[in-house]
Amino acid sequence: MKVLLVTGGAGFIGSNFIRYLLEESGYAGKVVNLDKLTYAGNLENLAGIAERFPGRYAFVRADIADGEAVEAAILTHGVDAICHLAAESHVDRSIAAPDDFIQSNVVGTFCLLELARKHRERIRRFHHVSTDEVFGSLGPEGQFREDTPYHPNSPYSASKAASDHLVRAYHHTYGLPVTVSNCSNNYGPYQFPEKLIPLLIANALEGKPLPIYGDGKNVRDWLYVRDHARALWTILQKGRVGETYNIGGRCEKTNLEVLEALCAILDKRAPRPGGSYRELKTFVPDRPGHDRRYAMDCVKLEVELEWLPEESFESGLDKTVQWYLSNREWARRVQNGEYREWIRRQYPL
Ligand code: NAD
Ligand code: DAU
Repeated sequence: MKVLLVTGGAGFIGSNFIRYLLEESGYAGKVVNLDKLTYAGNLENLAGIAERFPGRYAFVRADIADGEAVEAAILTHGVDAICHLAAESHVDRSIAAPDDFIQSNVVGTFCLLELARKHRERIRRFHHVSTDEVFGSLGPEGQFREDTPYHPNSPYSASKAASDHLVRAYHHTYGLPVTVSNCSNNYGPYQFPEKLIPLLIANALEGKPLPIYGDGKNVRDWLYVRDHARALWTILQKGRVGETYNIGGRCEKTNLEVLEALCAILDKRAPRPGGSYRELKTFVPDRPGHDRRYAMDCVKLEVELEWLPEESFESGLDKTVQWYLSNREWARRVQNGEYREWIRRQYPL
């Protein structure tokens, strides 16, 4: 792997992955970050990277569904591997307006696969980043395994399931050298404040209500984003072609437990005059079709590829809170839309 195309590299996980690749992994090649810069794409997540790694990082603004633009990027930069993260990622948005999810997650992935097939002599690996949500919802017991049947419940998870099936089919039919990973809920630096943890931090610091859907007892399995980046790099290096790997933190928490843990850290690190942050907790109407519980069995990744998370929920959450406290300017620019300035300058209407 000399030139790795990372799609969605300006998003939350993509930018953390690129930082990990260039700063920590030991990867000596070049990263080409191809991103459409939707509302979720923010090049400020990668501030300083191009300067610190001259010749080893390039940015291309393009839609993965734009075959000509992506093909030009592949040929210009001599791409020989793809790590595909670009997607519409927020479940609530998919419920309100599913269209973009079908276009980017399904059609966009199909377009990338077609290019990988066309240029199969040069593309040695296509890694597809997916989610545990494709498996549906669990009762109180059990965990998702790699061979658990798919049962997606939201437009988001259905679109990710469709893309997973296409990737698998391109391996089975055309012999494309693919790997797939399905990961649980990530948290950490640079996460857009629409997702639970950064939303709670942002609202708490502004003294706003902390919204909890339904009874707050839905369970998610939480993983610190750098551990996801480490897992992706491990799979790119050692994963067996045609295989799927579950990634998770073995860290099941109800949403109420997440809120409690966050408020305890915030109470310590940024005390709120007049009381605890938990007083801001507010129950709001439930998400339609809200999956009750996710839990991942990641034995395959742990045993076969010798990956283990390095961060516990306590240490990861503490680092996350500290990051948001030290980067309030980043959060402010995201919240008031200033982070879009660069795009407005580069691509005037
Ligand atoms: P994100 O919303 O923060 O970032 C998505 C990025 O993709 C953005 O930079 C956006 O501009 C880009 N993008 C969207 N549509 C595009 C298109 N058509 N062409 C090019 N770029 C496009 O998402 P994230 O949370 O970083 O998730 C990244 C990937 O990981 C997604 O595939 C998601 O399904 C998957 N995933 C996320 C989580 C999680 O907890 N966030 C967990 C498991 C898997
Ligand atoms: O499981 C992996 C998935 O995790 C990824 O594939 C998705 O891209 C990512 O967005 C995430 O999906 P969730 O729906 O689990 O994440 P979200 O942060 O939106 O919600 C986490 C839980 O918190 C969920 O049970 C809904 C609840 N919630 C969420 C928000 C935004 C609240 O109670 N209040 C809120 O305001």
